[in-house]
Amino acid sequence: MKKKLTFLGIETSCDETAAAVVKENTDGTGEILSNIVSSQIEEHREFGGVVPEIAARAHVEKIEFIVQKAIKESNLNLENLDGIAATAGPGLIVCLTVGLNTGKAIAGSLNKPFIAVNHLEGHALSPKINNKIEFPYLLLLISGGHTQFLEVNGVNNYRRLGTTIDDALGEAFDKTAKLLGIEFPGGPKIEEWAKKGDKNYFTLPKPILKKGGCNLSFAGLKTAVLRTSKKLKNEKEKYHLAASFQKTINEILYEKTRVAMKEFLKNKKNRQNTFVIAGGVASNLSIRENLTKLAKEKNFTSIFPPINLCSDNAAMIAWTGIERYKINLIDNLEFPSKARWPLDSSAPFLKGSGLKF
Ligand code: KG4
Ligand code: ZN
Repeated sequence: MKKKLTFLGIETSCDETAAAVVKENTDGTGEILSNIVSSQIEEHREFGGVVPEIAARAHVEKIEFIVQKAIKESNLNLENLDGIAATAGPGLIVCLTVGLNTGKAIAGSLNKPFIAVNHLEGHALSPKINNKIEFPYLLLLISGGHTQFLEVNGVNNYRRLGTTIDDALGEAFDKTAKLLGIEFPGGPKIEEWAKKGDKNYFTLPKPILKKGGCNLSFAGLKTAVLRTSKKLKNEKEKYHLAASFQKTINEILYEKTRVAMKEFLKNKKNRQNTFVIAGGVASNLSIRENLTKLAKEKNFTSIFPPINLCSDNAAMIAWTGIERYKINLIDNLEFPSKARWPLDSSAPFLKGSGLKF
């Protein structure tokens, strides 16, 4: 029997400094031995968004401690590792470089294999840590920088079915939150406020709902939220706007996912109907419920990573390192950081298709 691999993963593509140790199980899933995430929300709060230089400085200050903590909590030592994986893109170059160089330095000094990981592939494979999932599957990736439907055919093998043509979904949540006076990042708070409001109170637009295949657009919705937010008469109406916004998002996702499922099944090789959602916005319970309902109607098995694996983390990076190593996708220590790095390089470039900012 082949040795089960254990990898260290490092993630610094945006505002989370993260390190994790993940071990392969015999059934093909993974065991997370440690998963340390240090968020910089406080550092960026007063600016209402991530400031690259501040983020990079915070990564430099924390990375050594976070990696040491991940190793310590795993009850292993560096010599026990079979390889090191670090996020190389897409993201902020000044941030990526911190984690990437740390990963390279550890791999180089220990003479262990090094894997440069695409952050999006990390999200795409994250549901496989806790679930036995066979390829291919349909993936909806919804995060602060990305909104895409992908046919996941295998490790390093993706076909993009649709993407946002303007804002990412997490961005739409964060901008709506900002208009309502909620601090960054506002996605989770919008979900909370939506529970207290009437979702049918405001009617908001659903751009390109019936055209553009499973491409999505949120810019027009954002403008409508801006206009509406200026006319709010009382506090209660803020909750109504949050609820109406979330309801509109759910209607858009329902329709676009329906089209993506149809598109996925057009490929005759795709006999298994598995639908997976990943990325920070997949933490939203009303979105989960909405798409679980659709999946049931369309005979898809729906799979969601646990909340701590939806938002940015290094366990998904370690896991992707293991998956890539198993098919010999090993990188050298010259691998550069990449601001833009689409998973499906044949798909046309659109804003949300591989660029985090
Ligand atoms: O995947 P992620 O942690 O970072 C990126 O790679 O972008 O996603 C962060 C995004 C933020 O925009 C945040 O507001 C959003 O995910 N988010 C949510 C929720 N939790 C996080 N949006 C809506 N509802 C939530 N519960
Ligand atoms: Zn992410």
